Formats: sequence, C-alpha cells, structure tokens
Amino acid sequence: MGKIILTGDRPTGKLHVGHYVGSLRRRVELQNSGEYDKIYIMIADAQALTDNADNPEKVRQNIIEVALDYLACGIDPKKSTILIQSQIPELCELSFYYMNLVTVSRLQRNPTVKSEIQMRNFEASIPVGFFTYPISQAADITAFKATTVPAGEDQMPMVEQTQEIVHKFNSVYGEALVEPKILLPDNQACMRLPGIDGKAKMSKSLGNCIYLSEEPEEIKKKVMSMFTDPDHIRVQDPGKIEGNCVFTYLDAFCQPEHFERYLPDYANLDELKDHYRRGGLGDVKVKKFLNNVLQETLEPIRVRRKELAKDIPAIYEILKKGSEEAEKVAAATLTDVKNAMKINYFDDMALIREQAEKYSKE
Ligand code: TRP
Repeated sequence: MGKIILTGDRPTGKLHVGHYVGSLRRRVELQNSGEYDKIYIMIADAQALTDNADNPEKVRQNIIEVALDYLACGIDPKKSTILIQSQIPELCELSFYYMNLVTVSRLQRNPTVKSEIQMRNFEASIPVGFFTYPISQAADITAFKATTVPAGEDQMPMVEQTQEIVHKFNSVYGEALVEPKILLPDNQACMRLPGIDGKAKMSKSLGNCIYLSEEPEEIKKKVMSMFTDPDHIRVQDPGKIEGNCVFTYLDAFCQPEHFERYLPDYANLDELKDHYRRGGLGDVKVKKFLNNVLQETLEPIRVRRKELAKDIPAIYEILKKGSEEAEKVAAATLTDVKNAMKINYFDDMALIREQAEKYSKE
C-alpha cells in the first residue's frame, strides 16, 4: 500500500497566512519530499455549500482564488492532483453508505461542528447537510485511500470520525477502506494562528486575516496594528509573550537567517523574547521585524500569483484534468465498497446462480 495524501480547503475566501502555516507550507514540503506516491488537494466546494446554501456565487467565485493560492504557494500540478469536490459524484454515493455507520449523537459530539454551529447561529435550525459534513469528509479521505491528512488541529475531529467509519465499515463488510492519520503542524503557533486582533483564530468572518495575496502596504498596516501585550505601555515596561500576537507570528514565520538580515543585534527569537520580557524593547521594533519577515515570505507568493492570474483558462484546465483523474480513483474505491457491501448484483454470478437454484427447486 502506498503513502497517499488527501487534504483540502473550503472555497469561501482567499487563503490567509493561517492556512499557510497551518497546512499549505507543509503540503508543499511533503509534495517536494518525494515520499508520497500520490497527493490529492481538494477544493471542497460541496462542503462550502453546506453552510452557504443561499450564497452559491460566493463559492463559485472563490474556487479560482483558492486554486491561485495553491499554485502560488508551490503546489505543482505535475506532482499533486488538484480537484474540485463537486465534480466527483462518487463522493456522494460513499457518503450515503457511510451515513448508516454513524449515529446522530456521535455527530452532535463533534467539537468542530459544535463550535461552527455556534459561530453561524445555527443552534435553532441546523441544515442536515451541514450537520453531516464530517461524514462527507470521511468520503473525501477514504475515496482516495489516503493514509495521511495534513491539516490543522480543527480537522482532528473529522479525521477521528473517518477512522471510526473505516473501522466500522471494515469490520462489518470486510477490509475495503484505508485508515488515515492526521499530520498536524509541529509548532504550536502554526497549529492555530490567531487573527491580528489576538482573537482565537484567524478567520475571514472575524475580519482579522492577512491574506496570501495581500499587497505590501496592507501587510505593513495590519502588522503595525496587531494586538500585543496591553500592559506593555512604555518601552521600559516588562512585556508578556504569551497571547502576544506579534511573538506568536514570529514563532510561526521567523527563521534564524531573518535575524542576520533584519535584526542582527539578536541571535535568535529566544534572545528577542528575553529582552521583551525584561523590558526595554518597544512593540514598534518587534513589529517592524515581523513586517520584514512577512514581506519576505509573502512577496514570492504574491508575485507568482499575479503571474498565474494572467492565464485563468489554464488554471481551470488544471482543475478539470485533476478532477477527471481524481474521479477515476474515487470510482475504483466505490467499486471496492459496493463489492464489499455486496451491492454489486449484476457482477455477482454466485448470487444470480443461488437465486436461480432456489427457484428451480420450487
Ligand atoms: N474541512 C476542511 C476545511 O474546513 C476542508 C476539507 C474538506 C478537508 N474535505 C477535506 C480537509 C478532507 C481535509 C481532508 O477547510
């Protein structure tokens, strides 16, 4: 059995630096490591519709944005297959059969779904499609026999749900599905990058994002307005690192060589943090450093994105080819699933013979 990656994003907006450190950067590294036999990256438009049913245009508009972000970050369509979820009808069929293996109460316990219900004020009336999206996500993952799902911490409940479905399926119907593992970011700051306002998570709906396609002046403005330590009023005051966005971002983005280039008075991030804790280091100096680090990281992505955007039809062509290739793989898995469930009546000669014999005795 090969090593196979599947991961993806909902196309509800442009991707931001939280996506980058949480998963995108890692995907590109994994892609270029050559360690994986197949890599599938899914633009999860059908999942996006589960909580945007009345706004299909938003989803439609953002497919190309997400595709451009992927390619700009270094996802290479020669090495990774980029696909659009809705173009793979087999995923619906798989979901339909998996639904029989999951209870309502199990879905109600899913912490990511719980917090999303709260965020969207769905408490009073939850769309069924939204409620069951963890099952459809299990279909996404298992359709490609993925062994590895590189994703953020918020996707952990989805992968656990998938593992349970795989267990149940394999024990009821026989081994047909592969159990996936999540691959989390190795650094706490990357796991859940806060928004620039210091709120729990960077998210489009909270308006606290720095986008991958952001222009340099915008990046600078956002960095300079970032939430730090509210008690660090004068430069000489001792400062707090915990909950201080600027340091969280440095944890996620800063490399040792950035100090040589932009802040040679310090050897590394630990020294900078120590100085801040002691007092005598102003927020503006740290923010300027973070701005330099972010500008250096985001510039090549922005430039490449603009270049790619000059030929939009070519991007749709990549998505079409990727979706076609992916559908073949999903169709093969669906055949395995139906064989295991014995709902492949017309290929099942033993069944036809058995029924014929039964009736010939009458
Ligand atoms: N739930 C993911 C998100 O919110 C998107 C997604 C859909 C996904 N299917 C997936 C992620 C399969 C990993 C694997 O962005």
